[in-house]
Amino acid sequence: MLRRLHPDQPEAFAFTPANQAWAEAQITKYPEGRQASAIIPLLWRAQEQEGWLSRPAIEHVSEMLGLAYIRGLEVATFYFMFQLQPVGSVAHIQVCGTTSCMICGAEDLIGVCKEKIAKNPHEISADGKFSWEEVECLGACSNAPMAQIGKDYYEDLTAERFTAMLDELARGEVPTPGPQNGRYASEPLSGLTSLTEYDSGKTRFNASAQLATDIGDTVKRIDGTEVPLLAPWQGKSGQGKAANTGKKPAKSAAARGRGVASDKVSEVAGEAPEVVAKAKPARGTVAPKAATASPAPAKEAVAGKGKKPRTMSAPRKSGADDLKLIKGIGPKLEKTVNSLGFFHFDQIAKWGQDELAWVDQNLEGFKGRASRDNWVEQAGKLARGEATEFSAKASKDGRYD
Ligand code: FES
Repeated sequence: MLRRLHPDQPEAFAFTPANQAWAEAQITKYPEGRQASAIIPLLWRAQEQEGWLSRPAIEHVSEMLGLAYIRGLEVATFYFMFQLQPVGSVAHIQVCGTTSCMICGAEDLIGVCKEKIAKNPHEISADGKFSWEEVECLGACSNAPMAQIGKDYYEDLTAERFTAMLDELARGEVPTPGPQNGRYASEPLSGLTSLTEYDSGKTRFNASAQLATDIGDTVKRIDGTEVPLLAPWQGKSGQGKAANTGKKPAKSAAARGRGVASDKVSEVAGEAPEVVAKAKPARGTVAPKAATASPAPAKEAVAGKGKKPRTMSAPRKSGADDLKLIKGIGPKLEKTVNSLGFFHFDQIAKWGQDELAWVDQNLEGFKGRASRDNWVEQAGKLARGEATEFSAKASKDGRYD
């Protein structure tokens, strides 16, 4: 499994005050010198807050634990419980595709994901609510096929039940975790053949499903206002609500290390990166003319260094170029660049030093990236119809990282 950090990263990360206090309390559970052991719960909380793990989040957690960034990155990139790219705002579905599940119908479940969510794993559905991926054995083989959604296992699935579950989730309901075919746990489908006294005194659902139901800490994480926690980038976070109340979250140590201004930190930390539906193109579909950029009103630019290049209010009739073929421009940054009035490679190729400085200064959240990644040279090649090393790879692999 290829696991890479997402090409579009927020500039900074900060836990909400409540999550910061929780994280600091977790660290005290470990003996002196063993604080690094708190890395998984802290990364998990960061993911619960933002929906996915950004590089600044991993760095922030590493700093809290006194670890080199590479140690945090090793953990975050190793376990597939950690999402390294934006996920659906309601649920990210992890379908087990290992032997037992595959024999019992995992391919049908993946078919449902492709049809109802998105064609490719890690691609966000058009409504922004769901994403999916195939994962290795989740240890519930006797209840195959199964899928993990949020913290919970949904077992004994059929394509029909799985489809209905996705519809329930889309409506804001939370299906009860556990077996979905009437089984209590992993007993024979026809019922217990021994230890039948076990039937007496049992709870309504099996132990883990009952606990999940009792705690209510499942897919839909509620903070009392009926708002899912997992959509902070849509301004609907639960614990991330501090960001919407005007309260500034604590400044991240990672941000301090990079000298990000405090007002910038609060702005960035309070609003995680916007999810771009269908961000990744299907394999082999990357074409120089994507024609997907919609005309956006030119953003109010920051006056100061450099000279404003000539801009356009909309792409030419032939459609906007796929600026994501330029290394350093991801879906979010492409929107920013479009909003500044740039839609075509030949526009970018014409920037001189002063114009580059102006653009660098106006790339909100990504200042300096245009010169750092040498957009002008890349755009020049693409405008002439030549491939760059990056665009050739993107076209071949159907991905931008
Ligand atoms: S094979 Fe799917 S849970 Fe083990």
